Amino acid sequence: MRIISLHASIVTLAVTLAAWPAQSGSIITPGLEWEDTNGSPINAHGGGVMYHDGVYYWYGEYKGDFTYRSPGVGWDCYRTEAGGVSCYSSRDLCNWTFEGIVLEPDTVDTHSDIHPTMVIERPKVVYNDRTHQFVMWMHIDNHNYGKATAGVAVSDTPTGKFRFIEAMRPNGQICRDLTVFKDDDDQAYLIYSSEDNATLHIARLSDDYLKPTAHYTRNFPNGFREAPAMFKRQGKYYLVTSGCTGWDPNEADLAVADQVMGPYTPMGNPCRGVDADKTFYGQSTFVIAVEGTDQYVMMLDRWNKRDLIASRYIWLPFEWSDGKPSIPWRDVWAPNTACRAAR
Ligand code: DGJ
Repeated sequence: MRIISLHASIVTLAVTLAAWPAQSGSIITPGLEWEDTNGSPINAHGGGVMYHDGVYYWYGEYKGDFTYRSPGVGWDCYRTEAGGVSCYSSRDLCNWTFEGIVLEPDTVDTHSDIHPTMVIERPKVVYNDRTHQFVMWMHIDNHNYGKATAGVAVSDTPTGKFRFIEAMRPNGQICRDLTVFKDDDDQAYLIYSSEDNATLHIARLSDDYLKPTAHYTRNFPNGFREAPAMFKRQGKYYLVTSGCTGWDPNEADLAVADQVMGPYTPMGNPCRGVDADKTFYGQSTFVIAVEGTDQYVMMLDRWNKRDLIASRYIWLPFEWSDGKPSIPWRDVWAPNTACRAAR
């Protein structure tokens, strides 16, 4: 009997996947190849999504098609040439149109922080209502990740081109994996792995979002957390992070706080299902708050370290039970976007 029911499940799954051979229509199929509206694989890794005037913009690392191991570096330092930051737009979170490379690498100045030989990772964009500028923060590094800085760029439009301003160490502190969070009161915060990845810092940004202020907190000291992703629900701040194992997957953690700068209380691994202890072979990068709904979408990267451009995206909605969040695995699901409802 068990064999028959297992067989039936496999047939059902096969039929489901045959119906959706890749990401298509108004559904999301986590971990499968996801094509843009031109039929090309989406190339926006370590990304983040900004909602502006009815449109979602997905910014991410534009990976080159040749992955190599950084010469002379002892650890698993796989990389591609820095291709800049790509942008895709969508109204339903399912169908994405390529808007181009909105932050171009500087191919001329070999000393530039955004030269292709450098590392440009985890770009995140927020809109500043005071200056009317779109501000991009990203992790800028050199070939062996020893530079460890945050970079900032600006644009007057969401689709660029963005102008790179500078790379710096916030308050003189090391900065690697990062994200940006904009609160309801329009204050924005830079959240980054610091102290050689041992401690996660949260620094308030200046009113124009272009500089970190001296006001920062140290979170999870010696916890070695990276890949931060923050969201706010019903007055509480949630922070998803990964452990530090390079490109290889590990167990995620979710923490909660009453104040944006902490203190954060760990809640444990929010993932549920097969391979939950490996974050479904993914790593956190951002949480999308679906506009006008109570839906929050976890964005994960499933890295393919030997062929980084072939890394996949795993997007899964949070579930809430008695106020407790979890991320159950789903083979296929549909976001609660207004556009979908209108179809
Ligand atoms: C883990 C980080 O989360 C990634 O963004 C990338 O920097 C890799 N480490 C590099 O090994």
